[in-house]
Amino acid sequence: EIRIDCAKPTVALSPHLYGLFFEDINYAADGGLYAELVQNRSFEYHSLEETHRGSGFHPLFAWKSIGGEGGHADAKVVNTSPLNQNNRNYLQLKIDQSGVVGISNSGFDGIHLDKGQRYNVSLYARIDDWNGDSALTVKLQSDDVSDCGSVVLKGGGQTWQKLEGVIVASATTDNARLVVTTKGQGTLNLDMVSLFPQDTFNGRKNGLRKDLVQALKELNPKFLRFPGGCIAHGHGLDNMYRWKDSVGDVAERKPNWNLWGYHQTYGLGYFEYFQLCEDLEMAPLPVVPIGVGCGFRCNEFVPIEELGPHIQDALDLIEFANGSVTSKWGKVRAEMGHPKPFNLEFVCLGNEEHDTPDMRQRFPLFSKVIREAYPDVKIIGTSGLGPEIPIYDLMTRDNVYSSDEHYYMPPSWFLGNQDRFDEFSRNKPLIFVGEYAAHDTDRKNTLFSALSEAAFLNGVERNAAIVDMTCYAPLFGREGHSQWNPDMIYFDKRNVVRTTNYYVQQIYGQNKGDVYLSNSVETKAVGDRPTVSGCVGIGSWNTAIDVEKVTVNGRQLDPANWNVISGDYSVKDGHYLQSEEQAAPAMSISQETFSDETVTFAVRARKTSGSEGFLIRFGA
Ligand code: AHR
Repeated sequence: EIRIDCAKPTVALSPHLYGLFFEDINYAADGGLYAELVQNRSFEYHSLEETHRGSGFHPLFAWKSIGGEGGHADAKVVNTSPLNQNNRNYLQLKIDQSGVVGISNSGFDGIHLDKGQRYNVSLYARIDDWNGDSALTVKLQSDDVSDCGSVVLKGGGQTWQKLEGVIVASATTDNARLVVTTKGQGTLNLDMVSLFPQDTFNGRKNGLRKDLVQALKELNPKFLRFPGGCIAHGHGLDNMYRWKDSVGDVAERKPNWNLWGYHQTYGLGYFEYFQLCEDLEMAPLPVVPIGVGCGFRCNEFVPIEELGPHIQDALDLIEFANGSVTSKWGKVRAEMGHPKPFNLEFVCLGNEEHDTPDMRQRFPLFSKVIREAYPDVKIIGTSGLGPEIPIYDLMTRDNVYSSDEHYYMPPSWFLGNQDRFDEFSRNKPLIFVGEYAAHDTDRKNTLFSALSEAAFLNGVERNAAIVDMTCYAPLFGREGHSQWNPDMIYFDKRNVVRTTNYYVQQIYGQNKGDVYLSNSVETKAVGDRPTVSGCVGIGSWNTAIDVEKVTVNGRQLDPANWNVISGDYSVKDGHYLQSEEQAAPAMSISQETFSDETVTFAVRARKTSGSEGFLIRFGA
């Protein structure tokens, strides 16, 4: 029985309680939301072996040279006369025999085409010591090598020239490749070889995949937190996301590698993020790194004396979003086609930082300067990885508008923490639950995980006086290319799969009330002794642990049956051994069912190496 007590005071719900967190993880940007169909278009891919992920990349990744009709092309990637200083690599084809020769690109697992659809082709070309016709033929070919449409691009001189055309697909296929050929002889240099469907969201050039944006729109989101997540600080300071690299002409953006094990073109950059926010009426929430490393390099910090340019980046970002067209960065925005400001209201400083003296020293340096320059911009701080939120105290002292906390926990945790915010002081900064997801067995999207998230959101709404924003994480996972599960939306070239967790977000996003009404629920227990689900979670950062024994009500659990959430581990002689290779290894024993009234957990564990401590959580 549900009783609504209309006489009691109501709690106003924040207008932006439900939003989105977008990070380029699981090929969410390149090969995902960003509609570019050519992979490695500017030949900048390189091996990422040092991250233990993403090996096998090289500058000709996704490319193949083609020699046909007696022709031969010697293809290599060089950087002696680059298109510009940000985009240094380019393809050099030395063609020493006559014939039709060139290069082909297989896109992201093959290019999908729809009969009758129009595709924009563009590339930069330069020829040296050339004999014969300088025209280039750009063709789309299906895997049985049949022709699906082509265009001839005329031009080509001894300086870089941008050549553009349109191809109308004559067939529908999932496995086409883009082929660029020439009949001339000499040296042909190519860069920024690009293919976009014209049918992007809002028909934009350099646009976004329509079906994926539609899935976002149907959530009725009120903000977008971007671009990360871990990629905001990057894997080490030199991998940090510097927003200025992601704006301006796409050919002049400075690509970066992605700590999730692949590459970022930054074709989907800050301008496109702001535009998406405008299109879907979402408040932009850019995450600015604060000179603090992440992942395997969480102990790296930009020296205080070198922090100036990073703080300036944050100020310039606000100018890019809101400045007049006569300001330096407002002018860049205007030249990109948006003279009107984007009305940036919030800036997020940092992402899930560890509690270290260096972090504590750097955060206030950013917040102070931003407040002085832009008193109206609201600063969203970071509380560190939840549920413990080690740096909420610093955020409280800094008097941020709200503080971002994250939790990836079993469904039982979400069910057991519906009252998490009941005791939070209303005099402290507001709370932004900037990343969360219930991780069920095998990290699958299950109805149970979705319902536990829904239950948690009920607690959020009851506490809307303190919880200002929430967003599920991660948002997207590309089939066959996901580094992290569960995700809210899965997709491949053509299909979009909305998970049960998506539908929970949609129900709450589409039906958000203005106020929370006081209510009570009465249920009748079935049977006289309820069963409970229990969970033991063990997690660490850059730390190896040896778990010798876990007992529940005196019964020793068999490590072989434990449910490992992430990380390298092994089971030896009845010990569970967690290596320190992963940034955030964790294991859990979830959904053990106990009918006893009291559940007693015990864990015997020790740290064997590494830089940090470890945590053990019990829940029932
Ligand atoms: O959402 C995936 C990752 O989880 C984010 O990059 C990071 O902030 C968190 O640890």
